[in-house]
Amino acid sequence: MRTVAVLSLKGGVGKTTVALGLASAALDRGLRTLVVDLDPQCNATAALDPPPTRGTLADVLASPRRSVLNAAITRSGWGEGVDVLVGSEDTESLNDPAPGSRRLGRLAAGLTELHRLIDHGQLPYRLVLLDCPPSLGRLTRSALVAADGALLVTEPALFAVSGVQRASEAVEAERAEHNARLRSLGVVVNRVKPRSKEHEFRVAELRQTFGELVLEPALPDRVAVQQAQGACAPVHRLRSPGARELAGAFDTLLANTTGTSP
Ligand SMILES: Nc1ncnc2c1ncn2[C@@H]1O[C@H](COP(=O)(O)OP(=O)(O)O)[C@@H](O)[C@H]1O
Ligand SMILES: [Mg+2]
Repeated sequence: MRTVAVLSLKGGVGKTTVALGLASAALDRGLRTLVVDLDPQCNATAALDPPPTRGTLADVLASPRRSVLNAAITRSGWGEGVDVLVGSEDTESLNDPAPGSRRLGRLAAGLTELHRLIDHGQLPYRLVLLDCPPSLGRLTRSALVAADGALLVTEPALFAVSGVQRASEAVEAERAEHNARLRSLGVVVNRVKPRSKEHEFRVAELRQTFGELVLEPALPDRVAVQQAQGACAPVHRLRSPGARELAGAFDTLLANTTGTSP
């Protein structure tokens, strides 16, 4: 079982898109997956279109017990194979909590309890994807306490190198302080426009700085991303050329981040 935190320095670069794309690839391969929506904006929850639940991540924070976890987890609208631990806007206050906030410690506790149940065969998942909120704030850092892999997402833009650097440092800090299991799985470059010289330059700059940590393939900018999210459907279910290109890219990324062949 693998728990992958998908994170970035800032919002809007494609964390949710990458988490959903990996979930879509996992569904296609029959790899039971749970998406945990840590973002108070709940975009992953919306795109996964679950039925109403009795609980949310906010309840797990209040009480990280098995029964509470079960009430916040449900099958997604994508069908059997991808479940979701539904997000809540109530988690917003946690991103900048008063020092010593006990609720934040409970987030790590809730995720650790989730891990324990999976390890003991009481939940069926082989992949857990933690869709982080749009900053390296405390919610994201707590996710890193419970993850064994960190996947960084960036766009091929000015400041991408320094952004990836800072995100990598956050991963290293959590590894050193709280979670020796945590590994950086690499950097996904998202929204690359195929004929853009600027993007080509930025991707080359990232590769020069971070070497093999920059994952292949980079993800192209394709309208199929919005079409899939708008239709609450996995991108593998869409038939356009752009969707097929993305699906292939996510298959390879899934293989590279879970250590299995595509
Ligand atoms: N490869 C892509 N091609 C086209 N649109 C994309 C791509 N990746 C992300 N987007 C769009 O960009 C917006 C932000 O992406 P999102 O995954 O929500 O970012 P984050 O989770 O980092 O805030 C969304 O509207 C999404 O549909
Ligand atoms: Mg997001």
